[in-house]
Amino acid sequence: MSSRKTAQGNWTAALRARLEDFTWDSLLPTEQPIYVRSVVYSFGALTLGSLVLVVASGIVLAANGPFWWQTPGAGVFVRGLHYWGVQAFFFFMILHLTAQFFMGSWRLGRAGTWVLGVLSFAVSVITAFTGYLSRGDFFSQWNQVQSKDAFNGAGIGGWFNVLNNGQIYGLHIAVLPAVLVVLVTLHLLLVRRHGVVPPYPADHQSDGGEGKR
Ligand code: HEM
Repeated sequence: MSSRKTAQGNWTAALRARLEDFTWDSLLPTEQPIYVRSVVYSFGALTLGSLVLVVASGIVLAANGPFWWQTPGAGVFVRGLHYWGVQAFFFFMILHLTAQFFMGSWRLGRAGTWVLGVLSFAVSVITAFTGYLSRGDFFSQWNQVQSKDAFNGAGIGGWFNVLNNGQIYGLHIAVLPAVLVVLVTLHLLLVRRHGVVPPYPADHQSDGGEGKR
């Protein structure tokens, strides 16, 4: 037992040390600096809110199946919620990443948060693409037939087969949303760990332009 206690430098000890960075104050802060009142800091939360709507409506669509969502009534309504949720998600995500870019939000140890954001964006685009292919109408078929040449040309059409509805639908409703939720969760945990990025100082020259305070 004592040899276990003194064992340092293993991955369990490293993970514990990392997890100890998360206190209730950092995970669920009750106060934020005054600059967080700026609307710029709300774009991430609006992106997250849209993602919740997209995932919730997607679960209802998957539970009821394609006949339901193509039949006028509740199915078409929930499909509309899902579709417009995705439009809002991308709208707010582009606002969010543009704002973070001009705020230089990778500063002061936040590079990991930025990289996880970039990965979330990439996975979101692929998820949306597989969604368009899964609608089950002529729109999907046209996109499948047009895009297959691009994937064949890139040499990955044999594995990522856009004409294989089972594969594309499985990616859309299970694999890609799970990956996205994990990435967004890690993104948010890092935001909490570092605290919200401060704005650049008014006089950029005074700190060499790096925004260090
Ligand atoms: C799935 C999409 C995303 C969600 C749900 C999301 C959510 C959030 C939230 C809630 C915050 C904290 C509040 C804020 O500053 O707005 C945040 C911060 C941040 N996001 Fe995102 N984000 C997403 C995508 C992105 C993308 C695409 C980028 C950049 C390429 C990015 C970069 C950042 C950075 C660098 C921060 C830290 C800023 C800070 O510390 O104040 N995020 N994100």
